Amino acid sequence: MKTDKVLIFDTTLRDGEQAPGATMSAEEKLEIAFSLERLGVDIIEAGFPVSSKGDFDSVQNVARHIKNSFVCGLARCVIKDIDAVIEAVKLARHKRIHIFLATSKIHLQHKLKKSQDEIMAIAVESVKYARKRMDNIEFSPEDASRTEKAFLYRILEEVIKAGASTVNIPDTVGYSTPEEYGAVIAGICKNVPNIGKAVISTHCHDDLGLAVANSLSGVQNGARQVECTINGIGERAGNASMEEIVMGLKTRSDFYHLSTNIKTKEFYRISRMVSKATGFIVPPNKAIIGANAFRHESGIHQDGILKERRTYEIMNPEDLGMPSGEGLVLGKHSGRHAFKDRLKSLGIELPDEDLDKAFVRFKSLADKKKEIYDEDLVAIVEDQGHLARVAYTLVDLISTSGTNIAPQVVVTISHKGKKQTKESSGDGPVDACYKAIESVTKLKADLLDYSIKAVTQGKDALGDVTVKVIIAGKTVIGRGASTDIIEASAKAYINAINKFVAQQNLK
Ligand code: KIV
Ligand code: ZN
Repeated sequence: MKTDKVLIFDTTLRDGEQAPGATMSAEEKLEIAFSLERLGVDIIEAGFPVSSKGDFDSVQNVARHIKNSFVCGLARCVIKDIDAVIEAVKLARHKRIHIFLATSKIHLQHKLKKSQDEIMAIAVESVKYARKRMDNIEFSPEDASRTEKAFLYRILEEVIKAGASTVNIPDTVGYSTPEEYGAVIAGICKNVPNIGKAVISTHCHDDLGLAVANSLSGVQNGARQVECTINGIGERAGNASMEEIVMGLKTRSDFYHLSTNIKTKEFYRISRMVSKATGFIVPPNKAIIGANAFRHESGIHQDGILKERRTYEIMNPEDLGMPSGEGLVLGKHSGRHAFKDRLKSLGIELPDEDLDKAFVRFKSLADKKKEIYDEDLVAIVEDQGHLARVAYTLVDLISTSGTNIAPQVVVTISHKGKKQTKESSGDGPVDACYKAIESVTKLKADLLDYSIKAVTQGKDALGDVTVKVIIAGKTVIGRGASTDIIEASAKAYINAINKFVAQQNLK
């Protein structure tokens, strides 16, 4: 069967921003638009220009800068809305207008108070008005999935005659089911005589948690554009999540025989960027890009992964641009195989008898602690008298900073039984701390990535820092946790250095 292309229409900056509390600044929106372009999104819906001056300016700003993707603005079937979009996207190299009008009985009776014939006339007039001024017109019958079929087919036929080249079928309230939504798309293909002149698009909301399933069902039944958002953000429960749809099509290309233009390696980065701009945290168990999406704790799974990754992983985290090296999480469900493997990555190889003893101690610690860090393993092995080749341990840290004083950090580090204390200042307390550590270890580590998240809640939350550093051309990831973020940062940095040293010693 021939593969086919599905266009990706991103509405993170429009429907995504409609999520309560998701407001983004103009700078953030432009930065996200650049990333969407880099991701390979075909159409970027940048906003609803008539809704506010801020939205107008931001659509205009995106239109001015984006070169490869189409830039689209939303309009109701109202002349001033259509004019606002035309003006806002004027400078875009590729532009589109998205015009919508509700068509379901419940919206017509209670919201618009108009008959089907009146709605038909307004929709056709609006599309004609826009078509005289722009080439690329998308029309959405809002609440399409709850619209009477005969009327839906008729209005689609008429707006296509009037000049719409994309017809979008919103499941506005997330009410549909995959079978039902697929049947709506199949019905349109069969009953709208001129449908061959337009692309059918899906636009599904997630009120019943079915947005992605509905979109994929739409695609299976003939839709060739999907409207979606990064991380699935959007009005109420959100929109269909782009990363889930694209990876569904890619991972199961044997089933769908469809492809997209998306460069999936950009997903992780843009997901974090949208999360930062909106303040919406990506849940750890979020499909595709959640922090736990490729982490395994169960002993049986870890054993399988160590033998052959594909036993428990259907995608490659690197295809999503995810930092590697965090796959196996040591916890109470982990087995001896994963424990031994992690020690080895730290440069620690124990005789079988000592390994057994260390494993028993590890299991008892894992019963008390949610997650076991490398520094916990080092402590277990050290306590057993196997300092092995693990190089550096943080003994003490004093950090001073304030509004009018330069940050100053003093660290005491023990190395093969000897303690050394060094002091440094820096651009911030973390920078000062890393400089002090460097002056003890004499290892120059360039920081590629730094992230911090709270593991627990409240004022005394445990901060979990992850750093990605490059030492002598080698990339290493380190993690550290503490209620003090400078201490957590120091531990993560030392952990990365220890991994590097261990790898050198293993050679
Ligand atoms: O959900 C919806 O119906 C919409 C339309 C504006 C397309 O977002
Ligand atoms: Zn919507």
